[in-house]
Amino acid sequence: MINKIAISDKFKTSERIAIYPGECLDLLKTVPNNSIQLVVTSPPYNIGKEYEKKLNLKKYIDQQAAVITECVRVLSDQGSICWQVGNYVDDGAIIPLDTVLYPIFNDLGLKMRNRIIWHFEQGLHCSKRFSGRYETIIWFTKSKDYYFNLDPVRVPQKYPGKKYFKGPKAGEYSCNPLGKNPGDIWVIPNVKSNHVEKTEHPCQFPVELIERFVLSLTREDDWVLDPFLGTGTSVVAAIKHNRKGAGAEVFPKYVKIAHDRIKQELGGILKTRPMNKPVYDPEKAGNSLRIAPWGQISPSEQLRLLEKPERYCAK
Ligand SMILES: C[S@@+](CC[C@H](N)C(=O)[O-])C[C@H]1O[C@@H](n2cnc3c(N)ncnc32)[C@H](O)[C@@H]1O
Repeated sequence: MINKIAISDKFKTSERIAIYPGECLDLLKTVPNNSIQLVVTSPPYNIGKEYEKKLNLKKYIDQQAAVITECVRVLSDQGSICWQVGNYVDDGAIIPLDTVLYPIFNDLGLKMRNRIIWHFEQGLHCSKRFSGRYETIIWFTKSKDYYFNLDPVRVPQKYPGKKYFKGPKAGEYSCNPLGKNPGDIWVIPNVKSNHVEKTEHPCQFPVELIERFVLSLTREDDWVLDPFLGTGTSVVAAIKHNRKGAGAEVFPKYVKIAHDRIKQELGGILKTRPMNKPVYDPEKAGNSLRIAPWGQISPSEQLRLLEKPERYCAK
């Protein structure tokens, strides 16, 4: 039954999936007020990727404000917006985009519920600062009466056998058998070359990152919308859990990838990294590359392998 679901190129409340091949503001104009339970996205970071034109920061913020304002209009009163961003880099200086975008959400009357740190281990190696190994997701709600369900996203307890040692419950297990709250630091691998979900897009979301939001912030049959859809990850995460998914993407090659991935998901053949799979640990896996070759060669040879410290000195 599920692979009979059609992918529409317009937003219609009677459908389940809409992929708009164009500007997100044009898609948003067609979405009724208060109809979306979750907006989740990763906008361009204005760092000159192939899909963006680097703007001055003021212009970038104005563009983001226009999209965010429309997202708030379409958001249901119990709904949530999750905006995933990293740093804008200006002449080597970093500007954390969540800090410059926060006032837009605040001025629109939204309330921040979490600033989630998404930590990953892969990325560019910096030589003049510490390499960036996290980005953030700022989660806002439209009202105090927002939908939040922790149970489907609980993670295993650290000490499941722990018991109360005094008081009326002494001897009983003290933790929730369904697991614990995952907290606001999420360790999830990013989609780099050896990731099972990798496509040719340079900045894909891992599906498991969005599944956590879909499961905790929406109910079955709710709409999830991603204005900067890229390869369709947010829609994949939505339909995986029987939600409806919509998004816009300007680049035709990414629209095609999104269509292909969504069709594969509907057909049950899209490969994704499962939620809560432990992060690969080369030491535990006994990976032979953990043995440092320079420990086995002469000291002079060893020095030759090291980078020159002068490179890092401040002028
Ligand atoms: C950071 S990527 C998002 C990737 C996505 N999270 C995924 O998992 O594939 C931002 C995407 O927004 C698209 N984009 C940029 N400006 C847009 C606009 N005004 N409307 C729609 N899409 C846009 C870019 O082409 C790019 O694919």
